[in-house]
Amino acid sequence: MISSIQRYINEVNNENALDQNGIEEIRIKYLGKKGILNELFEQFKTIPNSEKKETGVYLNELKTAVQNKLLILKESIGSDELNLASDKDLTQPVDFNLNGARHPLSIVRNQIVQIFQGIGYSISEGPEIEDDWHNFSALNFPQDHPARDMQDTFFIEKNPDIALRTHTSSVQVRIMEKTPPPIRTISPGRVFRNEAISARAHCIFHQVEGLYIDKNVSFAELKQTLLYFAREMFGEHTQIRLRPSYFPFTEPSAEMDISCNICGGSGCNICKHTGWVEILGCGMVDPNVLENCGIDSKQYSGFAFGMGIERITMLKYQIKDLRLFFENDIRFLQQFETFI
Ligand code: DAH
Repeated sequence: MISSIQRYINEVNNENALDQNGIEEIRIKYLGKKGILNELFEQFKTIPNSEKKETGVYLNELKTAVQNKLLILKESIGSDELNLASDKDLTQPVDFNLNGARHPLSIVRNQIVQIFQGIGYSISEGPEIEDDWHNFSALNFPQDHPARDMQDTFFIEKNPDIALRTHTSSVQVRIMEKTPPPIRTISPGRVFRNEAISARAHCIFHQVEGLYIDKNVSFAELKQTLLYFAREMFGEHTQIRLRPSYFPFTEPSAEMDISCNICGGSGCNICKHTGWVEILGCGMVDPNVLENCGIDSKQYSGFAFGMGIERITMLKYQIKDLRLFFENDIRFLQQFETFI
């Protein structure tokens, strides 16, 4: 019996088919109800037990050979038929768009990172799940500050000391706690606030925090750094203006506007006819914050700034609805930088 099985194995290996019908014929010949394998299994029942082990191995080998042969034939004929049926021009250059596009928020984050890396800033990151100290207390937020309110912050129910960070300023604290000055770093990341989702607000968004600590750092350096950033990001004719503001962790604090990148400052819908659009908050790091993080505020001073990546992306690309960033509609996403 073994020699006849071996003959079949050879026969299978030499089988060939021109089309699907040919393949089906081979399948029926070997694997069909009245096919060769079933016939051999019937014979197998009648041979002495002592021969069963060895014969079984050959039988299995034949079965595998048939299955492999069918697969190989299917693959070769399948692709030939596909090629013949298709009216595609196979000599056409590849369409790179099929490879996907980088998300606009990633494009802008990378640009921000590149601009600051170019002037010596390192990149740092911190955890998205934060404690009260790093998100609020060390940053000089008074115990009863409204930003700690349940409505703004996602707290963990079982432990009110733990929350999703509401801003990347928490990373400042972590960096200052573990790095002796001078410090020059930016921290991009995701932040969370308990906001109703609308065209202008989302409960998840992205920020980039900047921090510079050294001896004798002045407000003039902050202003010049931000002017440099604004011109790299929005073009060399961009103007900036700083308006006095308040943040618990900076003193003095300011908000920065850039001359409207759409109308150039003459007034349009985007800038509500003021010629200016707000892009970030900034200020000199409050001495209390330095001390909270173990830095001697008599020796060192510094500045910090924080910007929303969504806001800058919306201005750059004139995107009117924040929700588009999170919907993953490829008609929206494909309009930006594509991978090559
Ligand atoms: N953390 C602030 C926010 O989320 C932004 C900010 C303002 C960061 C001023 C700073 C700063 O570092 O100096 O609104």
